[in-house]
Amino acid sequence: MNRLAVSAPERDRLGAMEVFALTGYQRLERLDVPVFGHDTDPIAPSTRMRRARLYRLSTDLPAEISTLADHVGGTPCASVTGLRPDERVALLLRYLAAPMRFEPLGESAIHRAVPSARGLFPLRWSLRHLSPDGTRREWVYHGDWHALRPTDDDMHPDDAPAMHASGWALLCVAEVWRIAGKYGDFSDVPCALEAGHGFAQAGHLARALGLLPAEEPARAMSGFTGSGRAAALELPLFALPLRLDGFDVHDLPALETVIAEAVAPPALAERFPTLAALHRCFDAPPAAPGLPASSTAQAITPPSIGLLGTMRVRTAGNDRSGIAATLAPLRPDLAADIDGLWRGLRAVRPRGAAEAMLRFTLYWASYRGGPALCDTSGAIIEQGIALPLKLGAMLPYGGMRVNLATATAILFVAVDPRAAVAQLGDASLRESHLAAGAAAHDFALACAAYGLFARPMRMMREAALEAVLPVGGLPLYLVVAGFARRANPTGELL
Ligand SMILES: Cc1cc2nc3c(=O)[nH]c(=O)nc-3n(C[C@H](O)[C@H](O)[C@H](O)COP(=O)(O)O)c2cc1C
Repeated sequence: MNRLAVSAPERDRLGAMEVFALTGYQRLERLDVPVFGHDTDPIAPSTRMRRARLYRLSTDLPAEISTLADHVGGTPCASVTGLRPDERVALLLRYLAAPMRFEPLGESAIHRAVPSARGLFPLRWSLRHLSPDGTRREWVYHGDWHALRPTDDDMHPDDAPAMHASGWALLCVAEVWRIAGKYGDFSDVPCALEAGHGFAQAGHLARALGLLPAEEPARAMSGFTGSGRAAALELPLFALPLRLDGFDVHDLPALETVIAEAVAPPALAERFPTLAALHRCFDAPPAAPGLPASSTAQAITPPSIGLLGTMRVRTAGNDRSGIAATLAPLRPDLAADIDGLWRGLRAVRPRGAAEAMLRFTLYWASYRGGPALCDTSGAIIEQGIALPLKLGAMLPYGGMRVNLATATAILFVAVDPRAAVAQLGDASLRESHLAAGAAAHDFALACAAYGLFARPMRMMREAALEAVLPVGGLPLYLVVAGFARRANPTGELL
């Protein structure tokens, strides 16, 4: 146990601002995080077998539903109108949480479309239905089975997420206990960031599949806390209303089987006494609704790849040997193309309450003649051959397999915590991380569309980063994009 651990009286006083500070560059000294090197003996969740009735979703699904040009340009895709409601649900959930690809040389051999820190996948996705007579039902998605399981969990009366008039919503809850044995006090941070990736992905999919109700998306991030789940180390992240007429889970083929279910390890609270206090701060009630997707068409020239194809090729570059050893020659307008697609993607999905507060800084290895750090208008903040070496200073440890000197681009996502707390109160903590994850996800998709891998990273030395690069606030997240040394052998699943 580290000697500077947060004391019991300090724990009672923790609010969003303190947690911003603790999960920033002070974390290594004050938080107990096994994977950051304080403990070599992390606790793993255990597994129990249980009988379950699973409603199986279709795997006979189209490989593509929309071009990126149509998606970003706001053109509804004709092929989607021919899809049954259950096929739309199957595509939505598959591209959120089903195993997609086998990568024998990747860090986690099974790859999914939404990334996860260390491949631990703490997010639980479920569909909830409220019928006109007030009956509430919920089905949890099991990616391994590509099937829905009815839950017998008690629903808290306050746990009333945004429902569309059709009665349906997609829910995202982080099972923080799943990663707490490894991430300790820090666990809510990767969960909220990861949910941000899921929020962006769900927004794009729901929109492309005709499931996103244009009239309601502003409720997407609100009305879904206070469920009393905090004690169980679960974090409700968002509910997305779905326009889903004509869908009945009971029409799907059912299967009675035995499934393996992870259960929270005992004694997490005793092992990590500060975790519950940080978790409560992340679970603050929502302060403001999110923003609807823009209905204005985005004028860009995206590549010919489709939306689902882009989601399939998105990867963190889990290549055994990391980023390519030499800088690949880039076309001069690649930076502008990626930047334009990234903006287009962000505009056409619902946005969370904190998204407008984020500050972005982009590093390009090759920008108008050399390495440059740019603001969001494309103006150069700093340029010169010293930049790639400065970037190396922010890597947390020497042996990290990320050679930043040959990275093609890096997106830095920062926030001014004082401004965020002033505007959104304690909810600013959860909302800032969700928004950062969503913006990072769109950047990763934009990079994927142009053939680059994109690795989201939370582990960095913020102190070094803040000292050498002006990134405009407290760094929350970054995405390193580049070309891999060699591609992993892969095999498609499902
Ligand atoms: C919230 C979050 C934090 C992450 N932090 C790091 C990190 O600090 N260092 C790193 O090398 N990769 C990090 N990753 C990348 C994951 O390791 C990667 O996404 C995962 O291995 C799955 O690979 P894929 O993105 O190709 O599906 C992070 C991913 C997420 C979602």
